[in-house]
Amino acid sequence: MPAAQPRRLYLTNPSQFKIEYEINSWMKVGSQVDLALATAEWERLCQIYADLGAEVETFDPLPGWPDSVFLGDAIFLYGDQAIASRFRHPERAGEVEPMVARFEERGFRVHWLPDGLYYEGNGETMPWNGRLLAGYGPRSDRAAHDFISSTLEVPVLSIHVQAPHFHVDTTICPLSSGALAYVPNGMDAESRQRVHALNADLIEIDDEEARLLACNSMVFGNTVILSTQKAPRFEKALERAGFDVLALDMSEFAQSGGGAKCLTLEAYAAGV
Ligand code: ARG
Repeated sequence: MPAAQPRRLYLTNPSQFKIEYEINSWMKVGSQVDLALATAEWERLCQIYADLGAEVETFDPLPGWPDSVFLGDAIFLYGDQAIASRFRHPERAGEVEPMVARFEERGFRVHWLPDGLYYEGNGETMPWNGRLLAGYGPRSDRAAHDFISSTLEVPVLSIHVQAPHFHVDTTICPLSSGALAYVPNGMDAESRQRVHALNADLIEIDDEEARLLACNSMVFGNTVILSTQKAPRFEKALERAGFDVLALDMSEFAQSGGGAKCLTLEAYAAGV
């Protein structure tokens, strides 16, 4: 049997990370980021990925774009294709073109959304069992999902993200081919029904733990990397379901509304 391909992950170092504006309810301009702590949290995450056998490439941040540390929001990678994002907020608009250039250099065929549609990339899109789970509402438009589906030739299940959440990766997290974690109040009732209709084992994350970005997790086989050490109920539920939990302190990034998952851009294989 051929050896499994390593997971391909990209991260941007936090050397220019700060809270310069408020575009979600986690961000408070007054609360300043401790860069030394942020760097330590980020380096630990990179080290864990390397230890788990992932192939990790890191980038420098884009000068003047403090949220570029959350690089996945600017693009979605799928097989050898990519969809360029269009940010709802001008505060992040300049992140897209440099990211597209990087991934064109790396051989990806990049598609641009039709004019007028917003879509925030890897933060709003995750593959699960041959389809994409994708978010819309606060940041992305549902019509962007039709474009992505027809361009990448993959079915999309749309989830209407509810405030205070703004990206789908803080409201749903694929755990395995048969299990999903999700935040019931992070999506509208119809989206919840669509999730229930997937017939997966569902682990619920309550609002208090969701606020700590408990759902913004990365999963490697049986190991769930949590973006908070303060979500004991979710941890217990994961352990009961047979997962090993690696709970990280990502609190500097939580001040911006992000955790491990949105600090990580994954080059997904098509069709997974
Ligand atoms: N401050 C960033 C923003 O509001 C946080 C991005 C978090 N990204 C994510 N995929 N959840 O855009």
